[in-house]
Amino acid sequence: MKTSTLFRFDLEEQLFPDYNSLMEFTIDQSKCTRCGICMKECPPKTIRRNNETKEVRIFQENCIECSHCGMVCPEAAILVDGEPLPLIPDHKDLTDYEIADRLIRTKRSIRKYKSAPLLQEDLEEILKTGELTATASNSQQCEALVLQGGEVAAASAMMARELLKLTDLLRNPLFRLLTRKTSIARYTDPRKVNSFSHALKMALKGKADPLFFHAPALVILTYPKKGKRFGRSDCALAGAHMMLSAHARRLGSCMIGFAEIALRKKSTRKELGIPADRRIGLIFTLGYADQNYYRYPKRKHWDGFFS
Ligand SMILES: Cc1cc2nc3c(=O)[nH]c(=O)nc-3n(C[C@H](O)[C@H](O)[C@H](O)COP(=O)(O)O)c2cc1C
Ligand code: SF4
Ligand code: SF4
Repeated sequence: MKTSTLFRFDLEEQLFPDYNSLMEFTIDQSKCTRCGICMKECPPKTIRRNNETKEVRIFQENCIECSHCGMVCPEAAILVDGEPLPLIPDHKDLTDYEIADRLIRTKRSIRKYKSAPLLQEDLEEILKTGELTATASNSQQCEALVLQGGEVAAASAMMARELLKLTDLLRNPLFRLLTRKTSIARYTDPRKVNSFSHALKMALKGKADPLFFHAPALVILTYPKKGKRFGRSDCALAGAHMMLSAHARRLGSCMIGFAEIALRKKSTRKELGIPADRRIGLIFTLGYADQNYYRYPKRKHWDGFFS
């Protein structure tokens, strides 16, 4: 039984059921040293320490099932559906397939970066990977806007301001009623909206960066409005390759959907220097990861292909 479905006392939880929780994350207290690494890593901060007993526990109500807690725990104390995650094997002579498999499986969404700026050589190689990516009709219509250092911080504050306006909409009772049976309902849960808007307000004051996690660089891939079809797919493929290429060079990255939402208005795109005749294809952070991962994540199986 899942912890998130056990306690449904209040009306809010009945109106906005948890769409996640297909996997159960628990902590084996006999192994846990209470180091707190998993608490810092958890994106929605749903792992908490009991002030009295000091026990660390996972509260799955906000869990996005990313598996990151289990991958960073040095003690294998975190269990997913009762099992530890698979350990990443030691390096050995690998076949091409094994290299590709390992790169894909160990590529993480990084939310903790070292403060070091990107080396020019790394950035150039990663951009080259984007340029080399195959595109529909070989149209090669993607372009990359790269923000670095203070530009990323300024973009974060600007986008936090835009997203704060959106949190007001998510709080609106009529909007909540109209979307209660849609996938948007998970974003209108008042506890989630309040904690997100608090983080955004901290970003405005320069005290936190819930959007880009103080990454030294932000890459915005765009395609022409009047270009060929599949511009967004072209950017998605180029971005995926660039993030893998970055990972192979020991750099971390994270795809940032929130930034696309924040840039939905023409005026905000203009503020960032995105020309009016281009659309956003994909946005991701880049930097040197400041976190080790010991295990592979758990992914759901795809069903229905061999019936
Ligand atoms: C389309 C898309 C949008 C995403 N947007 C965000 C985002 O705005 N913020 C964030 O922290 N992570 C974002 N992520 C990262 C996912 O949360 C992450 O890929 C997922 O939890 C699995 O973790 P992993 O990438 O480390 O395996 C996004 C990922 C994708 C594919
Ligand atoms: S990372 Fe592991 S050992 Fe550390 S607090 Fe979390 S569960 Fe416990
Ligand atoms: S799976 Fe991800 S979101 Fe869920 S508790 Fe672990 S780190 Fe947090």
